[in-house]
Parts: sequence; structure tokens; C-alpha cells
Amino acid sequence: MSDSPVIDEITPDELYQDIRRGRPPFILDVRNEDEFANWAIDGLPPSSLLNIPYFVFLEDEAGCLEKVPRGRDVTVVCAKGGSSAFVASILTRHGIRARNLQGGMIAWGDLHMTTRVASPPESSLTLFQINRVGKRCLSYVILSDGEALAIDPARYLDWYTSLAQAQQARLTRVIDTHLHADHLSGGPGLTRALGIPYHICLDDAAGAQFPYHSLEDGAHVALGSSVVEIIALHTPGHTPGSTSLLVNERYLLTGDTLFVNSIGRPDLGDKAEEWAQLLYRTLFDRIARLPDDVLILPAHYSDVTEIRQDGIVATTLWEARQRNPVFERRTETQFLEYVLSRLPAQPPIYHEIRRANLGRIVLDAEHAIAAELGPNQCAAALSPKA
Ligand SMILES: [Fe+2]
Repeated sequence: MSDSPVIDEITPDELYQDIRRGRPPFILDVRNEDEFANWAIDGLPPSSLLNIPYFVFLEDEAGCLEKVPRGRDVTVVCAKGGSSAFVASILTRHGIRARNLQGGMIAWGDLHMTTRVASPPESSLTLFQINRVGKRCLSYVILSDGEALAIDPARYLDWYTSLAQAQQARLTRVIDTHLHADHLSGGPGLTRALGIPYHICLDDAAGAQFPYHSLEDGAHVALGSSVVEIIALHTPGHTPGSTSLLVNERYLLTGDTLFVNSIGRPDLGDKAEEWAQLLYRTLFDRIARLPDDVLILPAHYSDVTEIRQDGIVATTLWEARQRNPVFERRTETQFLEYVLSRLPAQPPIYHEIRRANLGRIVLDAEHAIAAELGPNQCAAALSPKA
């Protein structure tokens, strides 16, 4: 009979809920230091997060055990959930309450949480925000009259088809607000699987190896019996084809143009200054002229503090004017200087992801996972206002 302890497991979903409820476990991450530095579970106080690489643990088990707190629930994390299970078994053997994160960081990167965005009772639509927690990517499904529209879907198509099905609706079209660089789009995949039209602005999609409909400025996007008004607004700057969607004059799905605390970086096409000028005009000639109560729903966030009490990442335009440093009073020259001096290094993989999102290369499953590891780096690194 084996005397190895039974290892408890925690799913990514359960871990996320514990963090959201303010009951985070102590996380022991046993991946290598560079992997940990690139991407770790966030939303935890620094005192709840420790990196001890697996091989260090094996070499000096006693020394490493001393660093793990007693009397706390410990969740052990690695890339896929294998070596962390082994370390969790060592901890358990030494009387520490340890659980293994099922599927490791890869499963954490695949976790999608769906939250309904509140709308008035008389509203003609239902809107869901889908939060891909590990990558801090946000996508949306709008439903009306039995039809559903997916916006900026991730490549895990089941999330979108199941959501539509659960709402007794069918997906009838899919939109990408721009050519994504940080993750693989599910747009072309949904089009192939369901035979529905895929919309993206020609300025971003030129050279795409699949059929698409260009999303033109001012275009009305049909959904259901058309009581929902969805208007495409060309909002270039993060990319030349970036397009926001104004829904019922109430919600603005901004893609990577405007975030809660920042803006989309304008340097991914190696034309940083030119695109930053576009961004300036987009922000101040287009978005800033919308009413204060428009709810900004972005495609990314940078930090879990951006998730509101109701579980969604959003801000009214009024709040953004007060809180987002990008709206501080600046001339165009000052704006360019401000943004261009705050651009983080561009992950080299982004070039490949863009090519994959145009259908110019195909990544197999293993490459797709590797390409998407880590949080998005789509925002300019602006310091949030206190
Ligand atoms: Fe982007």
C-alpha cells in the first residue's frame, strides 16, 4: 500500500474566487525565476507570493520548507501542474495544508469568467463581459432578440458558443476591434466554425488570408430585430484600424484604444509617433466629446484593482476624465512626449501573433500556448492617479 499523501487540488476558478473574496491563499510558485518574473498570479499582497524554483526545492528541501509559512493554506503553482503536485505532496507530508493548482499557469491563462454588465430593465440587449483572467483580456457578447454578436473573442470558441446557447441565442456575427498582437483571435475561428461574417477594419486586416468584411466608420452593425443600435467609430492610434463600438449610446467598447487607467500603446507598428498623433485626435476629437455617462468597456486591463465590485472592468467617461492620467490637460506635443516616453518593451512574439491573426501562419496547439503565455502588454505604462 502506498503511503504517499493525497494531494488536494484547487481549480483556477476556485483560486480566482478566493482572491476576489479577499481570502487569497499563500502561493508558492515553483517555476523558474524568469518565468515567474514574466508572469505570476496577481491580486495578492507581496507577503502571499513566493517563488522557489522546483530544482532548488529538490536540492534543499529542509531549507525551502523553512520559508513556507505554517498555519496558512498554501497553493503550489507551476507551468502545467506536474512539479507543483510533487512539491505539494512534500508540504503535505510535513504537515502544511497544501493544494496544487490544477493545470498550473497554462490553465490559469485559460480561465474565462463571464459577468453580465448591468443594463436598465427596459433595455433591448443583454451584454456580457468575458474576462480572461490570466492574460487580463476582455471580450464581449451582446445578445438581442435571439441573436448574439461576439467582440474580440479569444481562441477558446466554446466560451462564446456556449454562452449564446445558454441564452437561447445564436451567434450571427463576430467583430475584432483591431488586429490583436498579444493573443490569438477567435474571430476567424468562429467564422469558420459557424459560417458567420467576421468584421475588422481594412486598415488592420489588409493581407488577411481569410474572408472578412471591413468595419467602416459610422457603419451600423445589425443584431436581432435591430432595436439595438451598434455604431462603429473609427478610433485609430493603437493601430490604424482600431474601431470602437458605441452601443445604444450607452456603452463604448473601446478595444485597445482607451483603458480604465491608460491607453493602448501606439508603437506596435514601429510608427509610434505617427500613431500617437492619431491617438491624440481619437481621444480628444472623438471619445472626449461623448457624454459623461457613457460606460467605457475596454479589451484589456493591467491590474486586478481595475475589476469593480460588480466583477466587471469598466469606467464611465466621467470617471475616466477624473482618474485616467491620459485626460490630464496637455498640448498635443506634451501628450506625444508623455505617451512616447512610457512605452514598455514590445514582446518579440507579438510580430508572430499578428501574422497568425491574419492567417499568414498557423500555430499548432503547443506554439499557440507558448505564444500566449503571460499578461498582455498592450497599454502605455502610465502611472494611475491616486
Ligand atoms: Fe491590441
